[in-house]
Amino acid sequence: MPISVPPDSASSTLCLHCNTLWVYTSIESKIRTEPITREFGMHSLFVKVDNKQFGPFTTTELRGLARKGKFTPTDLVWDEDDQSWVHAEELDLLRPIFSEDGDGELNQTRIIAVGGGKGGVGKTILTASIGVALASLNYQVVLVDADLGGANLHTVMGILEPEYTFFDFYTLNRDSLNDIALETSVANLRLISGACGTLGLANPKYTQKLRFIRQLRTVNADFLLLDLGAGSSYNVIDFFLTADDGIVVTNPEPMAIQEAFNFIKICLMRKLRRAFHGSREILEILDRDELTRPGRMQMSMAQVAQKIREIDERGADFFEQVLESFKPMLILNMVNDPDDVKEGVAIQAAAGELLSIDVRFLGYVSYDQSVREAVRDLKPFILYNPGSKAAQDLSKLVNVKLLGNSLFQSFWKKRKMQKQLMAAREAFPQVNLLDNAPICSVKCFYWGDCEYQNGGHPCPVRYLEPVFKS
Ligand SMILES: Nc1ncnc2c1ncn2[C@@H]1O[C@H](COP(=O)(O)OP(=O)(O)OP(=O)(O)O)[C@@H](O)[C@H]1O
Ligand SMILES: [Mg+2]
Repeated sequence: MPISVPPDSASSTLCLHCNTLWVYTSIESKIRTEPITREFGMHSLFVKVDNKQFGPFTTTELRGLARKGKFTPTDLVWDEDDQSWVHAEELDLLRPIFSEDGDGELNQTRIIAVGGGKGGVGKTILTASIGVALASLNYQVVLVDADLGGANLHTVMGILEPEYTFFDFYTLNRDSLNDIALETSVANLRLISGACGTLGLANPKYTQKLRFIRQLRTVNADFLLLDLGAGSSYNVIDFFLTADDGIVVTNPEPMAIQEAFNFIKICLMRKLRRAFHGSREILEILDRDELTRPGRMQMSMAQVAQKIREIDERGADFFEQVLESFKPMLILNMVNDPDDVKEGVAIQAAAGELLSIDVRFLGYVSYDQSVREAVRDLKPFILYNPGSKAAQDLSKLVNVKLLGNSLFQSFWKKRKMQKQLMAAREAFPQVNLLDNAPICSVKCFYWGDCEYQNGGHPCPVRYLEPVFKS
């Protein structure tokens, strides 16, 4: 694989064994930065200003800077093909951002990652139902199970034994992600299933992860929805940041709210550290205790930006642009009381004040018994009962907030969606669980020992039975 970081030979070198960029600050001292993540996102670019290297930045971030006159056609960017620094205007990819109609953008597929620190808040079931909602409006949608530790999106879609999974992709049985995208019973909706039961894939090798991320953008679809695992491991965060948009799901309980905020903060810090791994002074500011210590933040991002501006004007421009471009979305799930909505607003306000970022609150989905019934019936809840409170909340949220339809447009779209959902509901096959899959229960020999134990749900590792028996 080509090394695709600019060779700032005086100050940096790459360890091929651990894919780590070492930045030399002087002859004697070196600081270890994060693993190279240049490859995340097809359009991530390094920039060189005043002999300092920044990035990678997305084209969207650079366009934001160009609009403010803070990134010009003659600024230097790293050309991966030529392996040299060229003026921004020389790159076909960047020329549109300097023109008036620079919005006619590059990649038509919109990748949306669904994450959030806490487990069990509804990431998977919301991903499935948002996918069904978009597909019913005639968008081509692919659901991607990127929960590498506990893939279960296929089960929510009523598929017990996926024909292909990531396993086939990782093991090179199938060359492209398009090949492993399975048709579902819903028109316009496909599924790339996680590698359930294939232990060891919870931590794919670095190169496997890179290959996956690059390939994601080659999948033919209007929307790609990534269901992420719980927690804030590098796998989860990197997928969240790779996407064009990220949705953080939380419920209104205080612990969940706190975890959602922390998740957003960790994502932002990783994004910033990545963008400034070429600048020792800025990294030092980012590594200050006041920012990294768990618990209450002692320094706001606005103050950090100010500190950076004192030492590096252009660096501060880039820093502020990264803050401005990071706009995670937020869904509050399992809302019992309309008053709970203020918790979503609270996260939005805290993110604005402390992190200087704009969290877009998409709205809430009510706690609804029919969601639980849908899960038991292996159906996305929006199909199981399109008239239920949760389904109504979600279709409004998709129509108005996610797609940005006006209230008038959304009225007609919602009618169309309801019609399609009723038809898709009729067509959705009933899965007979008892015939098809053993259910996780105390009767299992491995009860108490199994990492995937989830009583009452289909066993995700049943494929390993022959292995256990042998
Ligand atoms: N709006 C809701 N109303 C009622 N129950 C809900 C609602 N949303 C989620 N649930 C319940 O929460 C359970 C967990 O949902 P889901 O599996 O989507 O969570 P998750 O965030 O993906 O979990 P994990 O982090 O383990 O992947 C569902 O099986 C369902 O029973
Ligand atoms: Mg999940």
